[in-house]
Amino acid sequence: MPVEPPHRGHEIVVVANRLPVDATVDPDGTLTWDRSPGGLVTALAPLTSQGEGAWVGWSGTADLELEPFEQDGTWLVPVTLSAQDVERYYEGFSNDTLWPLYHDVIVQPTFHRSWWDAYRRVNQRFADAAAQAAAPGAVVWVHDYQLQLVPAMLRTLRPDLRIGFFLHIPFPAVELFAQMPWRRQVIEGLLGADLIGFQRTGGASNFLRAARRFAGVTTRGPIVLDVQSDGAVRESRVGTFPISIDSAQFDALARTPCVQERARQVRAELGNPDVVLLGVDRLDYTKGIRHRLQAYGELLEDGRLSQDRTTLVQVATPSRENVGAYAQLRDEVELVVGRLNGDFGTVGHTPVQYLHQSFDAAEMAALYLAADVMLVTALRDGMNLVAKEYVAARSDEGGVLVLSEFTGAADELTSALLVNPHDIDGLKDAITTAIRMDTRHQRKRMRKLRRRVLQHDVQAWSTQFLEALAGTADA
Ligand code: F6P
Repeated sequence: MPVEPPHRGHEIVVVANRLPVDATVDPDGTLTWDRSPGGLVTALAPLTSQGEGAWVGWSGTADLELEPFEQDGTWLVPVTLSAQDVERYYEGFSNDTLWPLYHDVIVQPTFHRSWWDAYRRVNQRFADAAAQAAAPGAVVWVHDYQLQLVPAMLRTLRPDLRIGFFLHIPFPAVELFAQMPWRRQVIEGLLGADLIGFQRTGGASNFLRAARRFAGVTTRGPIVLDVQSDGAVRESRVGTFPISIDSAQFDALARTPCVQERARQVRAELGNPDVVLLGVDRLDYTKGIRHRLQAYGELLEDGRLSQDRTTLVQVATPSRENVGAYAQLRDEVELVVGRLNGDFGTVGHTPVQYLHQSFDAAEMAALYLAADVMLVTALRDGMNLVAKEYVAARSDEGGVLVLSEFTGAADELTSALLVNPHDIDGLKDAITTAIRMDTRHQRKRMRKLRRRVLQHDVQAWSTQFLEALAGTADA
């Protein structure tokens, strides 16, 4: 049933699983807020803080009931998740059903009806909160796989709204999506949006095929035509909008004297090795960390890399640790790291510097500057913003990016050394080529990469999406 718009609503409302800030409750009950991890916040914080924006999302802590409040110019609307919602909606359906299914079934998705029920219930809660926050005719931008039912739920509540949806992760091939027991409901949920955005053209065409096959709709190019029960035809537009980073800000940060000094210090702390390789990932099975370690270990063993003059720094940010596949991955990665260091280390040298921690942007920029070669070997990745950060940090035009062709970034960053991470010999060759590349060739490639990343930044991304969304009004 439609609901009345609020008296003083917001012209733009972002709806995402997480708020842009994460709550921590200390043992004495004090509440502190930190910036949430990940690319989504980097991408959207500028949008809502510049104007009349609200952001609907979860605080990151279970059972925390909070009133809406203002922070850094954005009106934050917390959605409460109980401990059971966290288990079933977040860890369960979002990260143990949808996440593996949408990442090419790298691990087997788990299908539980109780998780689906929780997903529906929580999506309805987000839709209700957005309906309460949005001004008449406002733009509501819903984000990512955790909230795919929100567009249709919100349209039922508030037919006056302009609704956009952006999927940050891949949309899988129809043959894999077919496994989903609730595939029709998911498609119908998304079709509540006026504009449905994907990272890659492949994701957009996978979705159009899935919509025809499982929701019985017809398509005309990028337009989905959905005949309603009253005979009216609703149109949703599908488009490709590769996300980016705040490139200028990252470039400026990496140029600051303290970051430059810290980069020199990092190399010195590593013992000034000849070659520093770097991997930066959430500790996730989609990131191809095991493939990277395998290739690195073989290169040390073959003697193609010097055992005592090469260091791989692997930052593995803790993530989703209550989900079984993540706990298992951590065990496997740490076993391999331990073996490599045991087999190839010396008293004074550790071939893999493994950091199961997260770092602030300045420390990340220093690591990027300190690295001769950046290894992005994801088996499937919606975009991979780490690759773009590395490029944005390298105003010295040095360094080489080895980039998996299975990332969204590979569509744009074609001057990287593109690899298939499943091909361990190919990956080893690419790492060797990167290390041996002369400065002139490094610069030539890095210049092209930087041109793309600096031009197509996160502001360009959100402007293009929102202009396309506004354009759906004239269609
Ligand atoms: O890549 C998808 C994504 O949801 C990002 O938007 C986010 O930064 C990251 O995964 C972290 O996930 P979580 O919220 O589960 O910690």
